[in-house]
Amino acid sequence: MTQTGASSGEPNGKTAYRAQLLYFTAAPGPETDDGSTVYCSDGMLLVEGGCVVQLGDYQLLRETLEADITVVDWRRKLIVPGFIDTHIHYPQTDIIASPAPGLLPWLETYTFPAESHFKDPAHAGQVARFFLDELLRCGTTTALVYCTVHPESTEAFFTESHDRQLRMVAGKVLMDRNCPDSLRDTAESGARDSEALIRRWHGKGRQMYALTPRFAPTSTPQQLALCGELAQRYGDVFIQSHLAENTQELEWVKQLFPGHRSYLDIYDHFGLLRRRAAYGHCIWLDDTDRRRMAETGTLAVHCPTSNLFLGSGLFDFAAAGVNKMPIALGTDVGGGTSFSMLQTMAAAHNVARMSGHHLSAHSLFYLATEGAAQGLDLGGRIGTLAPGAEADFIVLDPQATPLLARRTARAETLEELLFALLMLGDDRAVAATYAAGLLQHERSPSV
Ligand code: GUN
Ligand code: ZN
Repeated sequence: MTQTGASSGEPNGKTAYRAQLLYFTAAPGPETDDGSTVYCSDGMLLVEGGCVVQLGDYQLLRETLEADITVVDWRRKLIVPGFIDTHIHYPQTDIIASPAPGLLPWLETYTFPAESHFKDPAHAGQVARFFLDELLRCGTTTALVYCTVHPESTEAFFTESHDRQLRMVAGKVLMDRNCPDSLRDTAESGARDSEALIRRWHGKGRQMYALTPRFAPTSTPQQLALCGELAQRYGDVFIQSHLAENTQELEWVKQLFPGHRSYLDIYDHFGLLRRRAAYGHCIWLDDTDRRRMAETGTLAVHCPTSNLFLGSGLFDFAAAGVNKMPIALGTDVGGGTSFSMLQTMAAAHNVARMSGHHLSAHSLFYLATEGAAQGLDLGGRIGTLAPGAEADFIVLDPQATPLLARRTARAETLEELLFALLMLGDDRAVAATYAAGLLQHERSPSV
């Protein structure tokens, strides 16, 4: 049986998808034919039980399949792994695009007031639903998500994500100073609530927990110390925070934590650098910091739309590369201005150009898929179409808009096609999103 366009996906039956297929097995180098890219111009992806079981050339595979298998026809479109956004705040959905002269005033004027409403489970649930819909519309199937200080916000988020069978990483913010009373926990209550949430959610279905000290200025040393203890006790739990985003923030951190060699050194001191730790921004680091990130396997998350919007600074790709600091991309909504990882890749490209660096479309797609999965220690499970992976994939439409259709018709290489998709594309370029083999979003032509 052949169907055109989406199928609801059959979690336990076998479904085949016919399309161009693309994924990465390693970071692409300057030559795009270096073996890091798997591409099939007329491919078939076979999904069963929520996982990829096989992929390859359509004509060859078709002959090996049962005659009655459902083949979903996405010809002329491109299937890639679902995008991974490694830094985003769901409670900031409603304050995206709020004007402020820089990070600290933006936090005070918009962010903290918005976050104070998330003690209410009904509000949290309603925003979580909109947020997940929006991620899926943009083709993001996994994200590292900040909730608020209220355990209710995290409970609401995981409940919604679990219902949809999404692989999400999220955590309750820890914040016991320098914030409004309505957003403040204590070192002890923060640790207690985090541990209860870990026990309840980490590893439940596809949900995973991230210890989430907001950033050093809003945690006391006691809070960071307790967080470090939890990070050690629960070694497969994630850690997420902000680091070296803004020069004013840097000065503040120096006053609050005298005696540390650098901002990064504070997190290091409390045992918060390791695999499965991801720090947003990482702009104002030195090479000693970058090498320490590399040595500890800590992930630096580049958030280009946010850095441009808040005027925080330009991420240094060359220095990251020289020091082998692991990197991935994040939208950082609501400081970031788009939920779309395509738009985030475009911004990353443009920021790199400002320092004379060229990022190919291949390497940007890698960073948003396999590179992020590797950086998060989730390689083989997400970010790839390789057999055995969880079936989180998206269907990109090179004809999604008149301009995309016109430009991609003239693309002579895969690199040119991918480059046009990321520069000109956004949620409109995502024809469908599947997670755990289930159709989670299908774009209607009129929207
Ligand atoms: N630093 C501390 N909190 C935040 C936040 O919510 N957004 C950004 N961009 N930076 C932060
Ligand atoms: Zn952030």
